[in-house]
Amino acid sequence: MKNILFVASEGVPFIKTGGLADVVGSLPKEIDKEYYDVRVFMPKYSCMRQEMKDKMEYVTSFYMDFDWKSMYVGIMKAEVDGIVYYFLDNEDMFNTWKPYTDDALFEIRRFAFFSKAVLSALPNIDYRPDLIHCHDWQTGLIPVYLKERFQDNPFYRGIKCVMTIHNLRFQGKWNVQDVENITGLSGYYFTPDKLEAYKDANLLKGGIVYADAITTVSPTYAEEIKTPYYGEGLDGILRARAHDLRGILNGIDYDVFNPETDQRIPYRFNAQNFRKEKVKNKLELQKELGLREDEKVFMIGIVSRLTDQKGFDLIAYVMEEMLSQDAIQVVVLGTGEDRYENMFRYFDEKYSDKLAANIYYSEDLSHKIYAASDAFLMPSLFEPCGLSQLIALRYGSVPIVRETGGLKDTVEPYNEYEGTGTGFSFSNYNAHEMMHTVRYAESIFYDKKRDWNKIVDRGMAKDFSWKKSAGQYQVMYDWLIG
Ligand code: ADP
Ligand code: GLC
Repeated sequence: MKNILFVASEGVPFIKTGGLADVVGSLPKEIDKEYYDVRVFMPKYSCMRQEMKDKMEYVTSFYMDFDWKSMYVGIMKAEVDGIVYYFLDNEDMFNTWKPYTDDALFEIRRFAFFSKAVLSALPNIDYRPDLIHCHDWQTGLIPVYLKERFQDNPFYRGIKCVMTIHNLRFQGKWNVQDVENITGLSGYYFTPDKLEAYKDANLLKGGIVYADAITTVSPTYAEEIKTPYYGEGLDGILRARAHDLRGILNGIDYDVFNPETDQRIPYRFNAQNFRKEKVKNKLELQKELGLREDEKVFMIGIVSRLTDQKGFDLIAYVMEEMLSQDAIQVVVLGTGEDRYENMFRYFDEKYSDKLAANIYYSEDLSHKIYAASDAFLMPSLFEPCGLSQLIALRYGSVPIVRETGGLKDTVEPYNEYEGTGTGFSFSNYNAHEMMHTVRYAESIFYDKKRDWNKIVDRGMAKDFSWKKSAGQYQVMYDWLIG
């Protein structure tokens, strides 16, 4: 049996702000249980739902030196769907009303603490990982501490480390002096070949430098991040480690995202009966959100964090033109930057029968949108993988995407001459290029309904479950652990 420990800052069903949580909550379940014992470690946030906290039981606690203080480290444990989860408990660090705060220095402190505490906890939980699988900058210090500070203790020798990049934009950066103080790492570590990048300390870079292997969440993004345009300043180190870097496509949980059994949607459907059944979800959603009730209108869904990553500048640029001229309905669900939230609120006021802005987080509504919409718009500036378009495909909502990162790897552009493709795509980050693509999709929807339905057929027939990708992770684990 090989022990693989996932360490991450969020994971379904305990806490979620985005796709990282979906991955951490679903991939461990798909790794072969006969050969691997996969467990997950994450912070115990006070903002977790009480129902989830009630599942946790106390394991142990101790005090650890950190940031010149002796800090409490509590370990809790829960088992869900056959996976053991550990939680790191410290009220000073994780008593926040959202999982992440806007205080960059505090974020560095709490996740540096988390990284050191997870390693320190290992000898006390009766589970020695053969490999630690780290996710995103919040865990970037784990490979650093593991390969350096913890090597004095034989317990840690030989433990391998993988660093998975879900989003290169977030790196955990702060000035070197503070980070030296907080982490207790000496000046030796803060040079450009280790944790320093552009004069700052950079936690993700630490993870990239010290991990045994690096992965990211799609093959195209793995190539893109080696270029200055997508490299977020770390393309140099990623090129240097290109041999140890690979892209493994994310999957989605096919039990959770299944239109045939989904209890969150009013009318369930499948690949055989979607032509009749799916539209009932549209009518129901129009009623619920106060949109004009019309089963024939082209409904575009958007479920997303409202950040520039997701291409909202393009949408903002042409929204007025499209809402005033096109026979469309737009249903938005998301939270994020004020400028985008306000943009959608404005259009909701102005075109109340055409656009519904839902500026909040709701698992229920997200499923209803995937089930009801005809198309799903995701014109990202960059996209490491993207799960929303995979969910959309499974619910017969045709993705309209920009050809970048995982969107390029998962959505095959419609070719009307060959009768192939599962969605619509455009290549340049240009608002009118996006608009023309949406209008092209509209024209197929309105004028060639049979062809449209075949696009849906092909999309629903695709398999984006974890099966294949879990296999690729296992090959990598075996290669590293031997
Ligand atoms: P990212 O991780 O960059 O936000 P992904 O496409 O990988 O993007 O994953 C986003 C996940 O979060 C999807 O499961 C999507 O349905 C969900 N999501 C995003 N915003 C909301 C929201 N406001 N309410 C419910 N679910 C949301
Ligand atoms: C990040 C990326 C997204 C990816 C998700 C899960 O949040 O923005 O593209 O799907 O992580 O890997």
